[in-house]
Parts: sequence; C-alpha cells; structure tokens
Amino acid sequence: MNILIIGSGGREHALAWKIAQSPRCEKLYALPGNPGMEEIAECLTGLSIEDNEAVVRMAKEKSIDLAVIGPEVPLMNGLADALEAAGISAFGPSQKAAAIEGSKAFAKDIMKKYGIPTAKYQTFSEAATAKKYIAEEGAPIVVKADGLAAGKGVIVAATLEEALAAVDDIFGGAFGAAGAKVVIEEFMQGEEASLLAFTDGKTALPMLSSQDHKRAYDGDKGPNTGGMGTYAPAPVMTAKMTQEATEKILQPIIAAMAKEGRPFKGCLYAGLMITEEGPKVVEFNARFGDPETQVVLPLLKSDLVEIMLACAEGNLDKQKIEWEDGAAVCVVLASGGYPGKYVKGYPIEGLTAAKEAAMLVFHAGTKRQGAEIVTAGGRVLGVVAKAKDIPSAVNKAYVGVSLIKFKDVHYRHDIAHLAMKKRG
Ligand code: AMP
Ligand code: GLY
Repeated sequence: MNILIIGSGGREHALAWKIAQSPRCEKLYALPGNPGMEEIAECLTGLSIEDNEAVVRMAKEKSIDLAVIGPEVPLMNGLADALEAAGISAFGPSQKAAAIEGSKAFAKDIMKKYGIPTAKYQTFSEAATAKKYIAEEGAPIVVKADGLAAGKGVIVAATLEEALAAVDDIFGGAFGAAGAKVVIEEFMQGEEASLLAFTDGKTALPMLSSQDHKRAYDGDKGPNTGGMGTYAPAPVMTAKMTQEATEKILQPIIAAMAKEGRPFKGCLYAGLMITEEGPKVVEFNARFGDPETQVVLPLLKSDLVEIMLACAEGNLDKQKIEWEDGAAVCVVLASGGYPGKYVKGYPIEGLTAAKEAAMLVFHAGTKRQGAEIVTAGGRVLGVVAKAKDIPSAVNKAYVGVSLIKFKDVHYRHDIAHLAMKKRG
C-alpha cells in the first residue's frame, strides 16, 4: 500500500524508518519530510501540512491508502477528519478527540468526571479569582495556559510570587490565545514517565514506557525544551506499574472519550507522574512523543503498519504487540542556544560514521544545501542506540554522538541518569 507520513521531525523520521520495514508498505511518502528520510521515502514539498484541502488533494493524487499524522497542529486542525471524509485511512485522532491535548481544561474536566487520577485543579478565565485560589492553596503550585503553547505554557512555581506572576503573564498575552484560560494545579511529587498507547477508540494497548529529559542542561537544569533525549523502557514503570496505569488511566480515558462522543484513535500519549499514591496524569498528548518515539519504535518487534491499520479500522483487540528485550537510548544534538535563539545553516559532518557506531541517526532540524546537510532547527539530530541494557545503550549512543560535528553543537551528557542511578 501507499503510505504518507505527515511532519518533518525526528519523530516522523523514526515512524518512517519503522514503517518502511513493513512488507505492507510498497511506497512511502513524507510531507514535507527531511533529508534523513530521503533514502526511504519520497519527500513532497510545495504545500503546508496545515492546509487540509491541499493535503487531501495530494493524498488522492498519490493514491495514499494510509496517512500517519505526526504533529499536534494538523490533528487539532481536523486533518484526520478531512482525510477520512475523502476515504483515506488516517492514523491519528479526529479534531474532537485531539482536544485532549489542545485544551488542558478539557483534559482535566474529563479526567475529573471519570475518576482518572491526576492533580487537583481549577480553571479560571480571569486573574483575580485565579490569584485568590493560589493564595488559598499556597506554593509550590503549577500554573498552565489552557491551550497549545509548544510546551512553554507550564510554570511550576516554587513560590507564591512566581505563581502570581505566571497568572499575570498568561492573562497578559504571553502565550496568545492559548492563555485565554488558566488551569491551576496541585504540585505532584514523583518521577515522570511517558506511556504511549495504540488505540482504536475501544482498546488501548500500551507501548514500552520511556522517559524524556525536558530541561536543556545536565542534571535537569536550565529551561524546558521539546526534549533533549530519551530512553526506553523506564525502570520506574515496572510491569505492575504499567498494568496499573493501563487499568486506571489508559482504558478509562479511552472509554470516557468514546462515551463523550469523541472516540480517540491513534497514539495516545500519557505523561505520568509516579507518585506515592500510584501513577497520575501530568498531561495527555494526541500523538506520538518526540523524542520518545525514537526509542520506543526501535524496540517494537511487530509490524507497525498492521497495528496502525488495526487502529484505523477498529480491530485492535485482535492484535498482539511484541517488544524486544533490550533497551534504547536517544541523545538529541541541538543547536547552541536552543531553546532560546540559535543560528542555522552550519554544515554537519560525521553522519555516516555515527550511524555505524550507534545504530540510527534520526534527523529533526536538518536541510540539504547543495551537497551538504546543514543545521536547520533547534533540535537537529537524535542519535539512537539499542543494546542489551540501558548502560550499554548509553555508551553506544555517546560514541555515535562524539562522531558528529557541527558548530556550537549542544547536547546533554547525562541521558538516562535516573535509570543508571537506580542500578547503583
Ligand atoms: P506539561 O506540558 O503539562 O507536560 O508540563 C510540563 C512539565 O511541567 C511536566 O513534564 C512536569 O515536569 C511539570 N508539571 C506539569 N504539571 C505538574 C504538576 N501538577 N506537578 C508537578 N510537575 C508538573
Ligand atoms: N517529549 C514530549 C512530547 O512529545 O510532548
């Protein structure tokens, strides 16, 4: 069949890499894709992934049988609905279901209504009442802009002053329309983990767990980023914890979304806090995680296309998903200055050697410029290694990292530090 991947990041490169291995995949397209995907997919240009009509027209022209939507914005724009209306199977939720990521207030309300464990919260549409609530609750406390803010609309406030200032910032327009409402949440203590699940709207099958590193610098310091590296599986997610999260979180939210007339199909991403009282939801995303996908998919033994078709067609209960025993680690190489200002256009060297040493190099922010590949974004590459356990995968990944050169490269040196500490 003809398969189309929508998006251009490391997550989409990882999806393309796994999909290309499926015997079901005859021809793979990427819109717009990136230079790393060129070996396995035909990259299409000339239209925006935010223009539903143009994407549907192009998908028809290329006789696409299955479209896999990577990023949240096209999902929120209803691209899955538009493709399905044109008779094209889409992997990704409808616009109504994607609200679970698009509105934190919606996500919190549905969790509360159906008793899904998450931090206590209240939603506000004006500053005075929000501040009064903060004063009553005390610090630490978490202040969140309701809408999509590219991961930046969350302020974990250690003091009352910080929390009150965050309310002013959000209502003052720091996050644009995403800040029309503010959600204020209880601070949860614990270790975080990402649990992604395949779902057809009725059944939820968890993938291997993983852990992201959101802060820019070693030791979990510095500003929040899109994610500086990941590893899978996460030791904190024992088999028992995964089962508890599946029973108390994944299955109930899928049932709740169906009951509310918003059946969720695709990949549901549960960001979890493992607290003393068990797993609680930090956030839901309506898509694969980036860079979680880069470590989860290399450990998937089963055919990803078969699973995606089962999600689109509603027969996931008949699928058996198999995983490899080892571990995978992804180290993100970013442009110096990211997540703040950075310069683009630096030539990248050592890609082939790094791939040979580690296993995979997924492109995220790269561009072809003549014969060269140059930096073209904040997160540039993800070097991924797979090995029998996390320490071996860490070593292998960093050998790969050491072989890549571009000006002002920045990466964390301590990916998987929590897992390594647990091993003593
Ligand atoms: P989010 O964008 O909702 O995932 O939040 C970004 C980060 O803020 C999370 O990965 C957590 O580290 C932190 N965070 C969000 N909500 C809470 C909470 N209620 N308690 C503690 N930390 C939180
Ligand atoms: N790695 C975090 C995310 O994909 O939202």
